[in-house]
Amino acid sequence: MPATKLNINELIYKINQDLDAVDWTRVCELFSKVEWRTRTEAEISTAFRQSSWTIFIYENDLLIAFGRTVDDGRYYAMLADIVVDPDYQGNGLGKYLVNALNEKLGDNYHFVTLTAAPGKGKFYKSIGWKKQSTSYIWPQGPKQLRQHTEPEE
Ligand SMILES: CC(C)(COP(=O)(O)OP(=O)(O)OC[C@H]1O[C@@H](n2cnc3c(N)ncnc32)[C@H](O)[C@@H]1OP(=O)(O)O)[C@@H](O)C(=O)NCCC(=O)NCCS
Repeated sequence: MPATKLNINELIYKINQDLDAVDWTRVCELFSKVEWRTRTEAEISTAFRQSSWTIFIYENDLLIAFGRTVDDGRYYAMLADIVVDPDYQGNGLGKYLVNALNEKLGDNYHFVTLTAAPGKGKFYKSIGWKKQSTSYIWPQGPKQLRQHTEPEE
């Protein structure tokens, strides 16, 4: 799986960094590399600014992974936009992002959830997450209906 084996102790981990210093062009490039192509720089930077926790991981100056959380401070929290540059996948960075964000949220919330990208359920299961049997979605279009819902009973 990994194209590059790297020493993850030598990477730079920035939690809630100054978002004015983030290269949003590179953020969009990483979204494109993982084939999430609908993000725009303006919208994604606004979304990160409205997030409770953000983590950006760098190899020297190069942004290689990021993730964030959104929450209401007490009842509901969710992880979002967990992305690792495909050239750096398979080195434990995805696991680090998810665990670190979850740790930052702590035990305060009634629900901590996330929506896995299609095909990524096994990743979350492998790091201890459970498939929620009671969640519902209001599909935002036919693709989402196809990719994120179960067949009608
Ligand atoms: C999903 C993603 C975040 C995983 O990041 P990663 O850095 O490659 O994952 P890690 O190296 O931390 O892997 C952690 C564990 O999950 C497993 N894993 C990783 N990707 C997996 C997959 N697609 N299917 C099954 N298991 C997977 C690894 O084997 C590893 O298991 P181990 O600890 O027993 O060795 C990364 O592939 C990615 O950015 N994908 C594109 C965007 C995306 O789909 N994000 C998540 C959905 S919201």
